[in-house]
Amino acid sequence: MASSRSAMLQVMLVVAAALAAAPCVLSDPSPLQDFCVADLKAAMAVDGFPCKPASTVVDDDFFSALMVAAPSTKNPFGVNSTRATVSVFPGLNTLGVSITRTDLAPGGINPPHSHPRGSELVLVVKGEVMVGFTTSTNLLYSKVVKENELFIVPRGLQHYQLNVGTGDAVFMAMFDAQSPGLVVPTLGLFATKPAMPMEVLTKTFLLGADEIDVMKSKFVGF
Ligand SMILES: *[C@@H]1O[C@H](CO)[C@@H](O)[C@H](O)[C@H]1NC(C)=O
Repeated sequence: MASSRSAMLQVMLVVAAALAAAPCVLSDPSPLQDFCVADLKAAMAVDGFPCKPASTVVDDDFFSALMVAAPSTKNPFGVNSTRATVSVFPGLNTLGVSITRTDLAPGGINPPHSHPRGSELVLVVKGEVMVGFTTSTNLLYSKVVKENELFIVPRGLQHYQLNVGTGDAVFMAMFDAQSPGLVVPTLGLFATKPAMPMEVLTKTFLLGADEIDVMKSKFVGF
C-alpha cells in the first residue's frame, strides 16, 4: 500500500516537472474577464496594456472608424496600410485580434514583410491582388485573389501583395494578434538607425559600397 502511494507520488512529480518544463505559450492570452479596455497612457506591458478602470469604459472604446476613409497611395510603392491594432483601438486589448485595411494603387506593391506575432487572413474587397508568401525552406505559395476571396498567410512568414488588376485594389488583413508586429527586410537592411555597417551589407549582397549606396538612397525617409 505504502509503496503504491509512493509510486503514485513519483508519477505526480514527473507530471508536474513535465508541465513546468513545457514551452511557454507564444500567443496572445485568453481574456480572464469580459473585457480589458487598454489604458493607452500606461507603459506597454509584456502581454499588452493594463485595463482602464471599468467605470471609465465607454462605447467608443469598442468602436473604430479608422478604416472608413480611403488613404492616399501617392508614394513610390503605391500602397497605404491603415492599422487598427490595440494602440489605436483600445477595446482590442487582450482579445487576440486586429485588422488592417491596405489600399493599393494600380500596380502598387505592399513589399515583402512579415508579422512575427500573427497569422494574416486576407480578404480582398476590391480589385485583384496577387498574394504570395515564402517558407523557411524558400518555397513560394501564391494566388491571384479577387473580390470576396480569401488567402491565409501563416504566422511569421514573409509575404507580399501586388495589385495586378486594372484599377485600385483594397484588402482587409485580419490578424490573430492585437499587435502582430511588422518586419520589412528592405527597411531592416537599408534604412536602420543607426545604419547597418557597410561591410555587413557589401558582404551579404556580394556588391560594392557604391551599389549598396544606390539601394540605400531608395529608402531614405521610410
Ligand atoms: C497614408 O494615407 C494617409 C491619409 O491619406 C496619409 O496621411 C499618409 O501620408 C499616407 N501614407 C503614405 C505612406 O503614403
